[in-house]
Amino acid sequence: MAWRPTGVKESDLAEASLRGAVAGALPVVLVRLAGTIHAVAGACPHIGGDLADGTLELGKLTCPLHGATFDIVSGAVRADPFGVVPPEGGVEPLPRYPVRVVDGEIQVDAPDG
Ligand code: FES
Repeated sequence: MAWRPTGVKESDLAEASLRGAVAGALPVVLVRLAGTIHAVAGACPHIGGDLADGTLELGKLTCPLHGATFDIVSGAVRADPFGVVPPEGGVEPLPRYPVRVVDGEIQVDAPDG
């Protein structure tokens, strides 16, 4: 793991919005909730849907491909693909990464490679 720049300014990430970015070689989604910035994987753990094209509602991110839903703060699965609630293990939790801001830019502690 190493701190990687995202090219996204903290001031450009509005409350309750999401934005796709790349940290090193890792696609991520940046979200600001209640003033805190979160970074989660940009590829859905199901079969890789682009979560930057997903929807954010009440702290939950929904995949645009098959509708799996994840808690932004914990990464926990709230709905399996195809809307299965409660989830039955149809998808792994959403990976999360540490975030920091340096000189106004959001950085993510992303895996090597
Ligand atoms: S790729 Fe995300 S739910 Fe299928």
